[in-house]
Amino acid sequence: MFSGPFSESIIKRAQEAGKVDIYVHNLRDWTSDRHHKTDDEQFGGGDGMVMLAQPLIEAVQDLQSRTAAESYLILTTPQGRIYEQSVAEELSAKEHLIIICGHYKGVDERVIDILQPDEISIGDYILTGGELPAMIIVDSVVRLMPGVVNSFGSVEEDSFTCGLLDCPRYTRPREVMGRAVPDVLLSGNHAEIDRWRLEQSCERTARRRPDLYREYRRRQERKEREA
Ligand SMILES: C[S@@+](CC[C@H](N)C(=O)[O-])C[C@H]1O[C@@H](n2cnc3c(N)ncnc32)[C@H](O)[C@@H]1O
Repeated sequence: MFSGPFSESIIKRAQEAGKVDIYVHNLRDWTSDRHHKTDDEQFGGGDGMVMLAQPLIEAVQDLQSRTAAESYLILTTPQGRIYEQSVAEELSAKEHLIIICGHYKGVDERVIDILQPDEISIGDYILTGGELPAMIIVDSVVRLMPGVVNSFGSVEEDSFTCGLLDCPRYTRPREVMGRAVPDVLLSGNHAEIDRWRLEQSCERTARRRPDLYREYRRRQERKEREA
């Protein structure tokens, strides 16, 4: 599952340039029985298997012991705190992340009690496993790391990073099916272009995400008071 997203485009180049190392581990390597079992039936009955505590705890402890870096442990779970850009920024400052991908009904609760991971959800819906959430976390964190995206200015302008949604963007040709690029973008006046882009971002955020816009205005007002 991981080979596509981790061996294409920006994430691939980041690894080739030595900006980040990404490893995918097979939990069966830490199983102790001859069938390499990673799950079992639930105590109390009910449909669905639960991931065994022993291989997960041993895998995490083993991986932590292989690095001198301080490891930060994440468990993908729909019951965790909601993943958003501010969490990606927080994680991009960490030296070493270990991400556990759950499966089936989830993991034995004692994994959480003992390892105390940061439980992260990518939204209020249920996926079959933690692989896609792990890929989303890796992708969004790696692109924030210094030198990964060529023009860092472009990352800073993205939606959420400055608290607003991004403005509309256009490329060639100047007209598509009767719809022209706004004149201001062709004016060469960069101050005017910046002003137009900010207005568009504000208008778009207020309309589509009033919650974000309220927070943005609050922060702007605080900044103005402190200036
Ligand atoms: C079918 S889900 C288990 C759901 C669990 N029984 C519950 O209701 O909380 C299997 C695994 O997929 C992953 N997963 C599913 N949805 C997710 C989400 N929204 N965010 C993060 N991980 C998710 C988790 O790793 C989870 O252990």
